[in-house]
Amino acid sequence: MPDAIPFDPRTLRDAFGRFMTGVVVVTARNTGGTPIGFTANSFSSVSMDPPLLSVCPGKFLSTYQGLKEASHFGISILADSQEDISNIFARSKEDRFARVPHHVDGNDVPLIDGAIATFSCQTHRWIDAGDHAILLGQVTGFTQRPGDGLGYQNGGYFSLGRERRAAAPSAKHRVCGAIVEHGDQVLLEQGEDGLRPFQIDVPKGTSARKTLTEALQNRGLTASLQQVYSVFDDPTEQREYSYFLARCTAPSNGEGLVWTRRAELPHQQFATPTLATLLSRFAREAESRNFMLYLGDAEAGELHQMTDRST
Ligand SMILES: Cc1cc2nc3c(=O)[nH]c(=O)nc-3n(C[C@H](O)[C@H](O)[C@H](O)COP(=O)(O)O)c2cc1C
Repeated sequence: MPDAIPFDPRTLRDAFGRFMTGVVVVTARNTGGTPIGFTANSFSSVSMDPPLLSVCPGKFLSTYQGLKEASHFGISILADSQEDISNIFARSKEDRFARVPHHVDGNDVPLIDGAIATFSCQTHRWIDAGDHAILLGQVTGFTQRPGDGLGYQNGGYFSLGRERRAAAPSAKHRVCGAIVEHGDQVLLEQGEDGLRPFQIDVPKGTSARKTLTEALQNRGLTASLQQVYSVFDDPTEQREYSYFLARCTAPSNGEGLVWTRRAELPHQQFATPTLATLLSRFAREAESRNFMLYLGDAEAGELHQMTDRST
């Protein structure tokens, strides 16, 4: 056997975490009949004939023994609206099922309501694998419904559905912008009514990311666009605004461009109250790098968690 290689566990975990996955809840009943469950992203389809799937439960799980003794288990693939359920099944120490709507399958295993797919399984094989195990299940039944799944990468949730909707061409006039950072400075543009992030009109049917990146390049700025940070409608103007987070690798000082220290953002004169709120929220969230996605209109909307650490 090779000697154990002294990787830094945090760095190795980060490297594993670069793999984009969905999120499932693994459920079963322990020998006392109590429902048990935990959140997992180690789910994989394995075989069609016979129909097999796998998941890797950690030996540290409080539910490990219960799962090991169960003859059947269930997998619920979470929808992109079910972040809170993922967090409950990853963290809560209370009765997880009391807080989450669920039903039971033909094997009396609980499955999560609203999941985009569920699999009822008979335990096929347990394979020992270091501090985890590989659990193979033979599928005895499944359900599915249309909808986008909850995504997970780099210790944070994401939703391809939301990203696509944010980047999709709409009937309305589209404005796309970027909150471009370079060190502790943020790029703003001086307009007639006040400051605003760098933004452009994006013609229908064109990619927001591509057009915005090119527009930044035309102003002498090399920047990489990251996640969508805020999407809102302004019905009075018939406009839809989308702002991305971005990092500038080669800054420049083009005409009308103003580099402002992040800490100064809440004290600037912005073109609209919505932009003032947006940039103040950004300054606040940038301190912990725990960014939320805003979806709504210019006055009211919802914040969605985009970075959430696993246990
Ligand atoms: C997105 C996500 C994916 C996870 N994937 C796994 C996994 O594949 N295997 C595992 O053992 N734990 C995984 N965990 C951690 C467990 O969900 C967590 O340790 C468990 O629910 C703790 O339960 P306990 O307090 O009952 O032990 C994951 C957590 C999150 C948030």
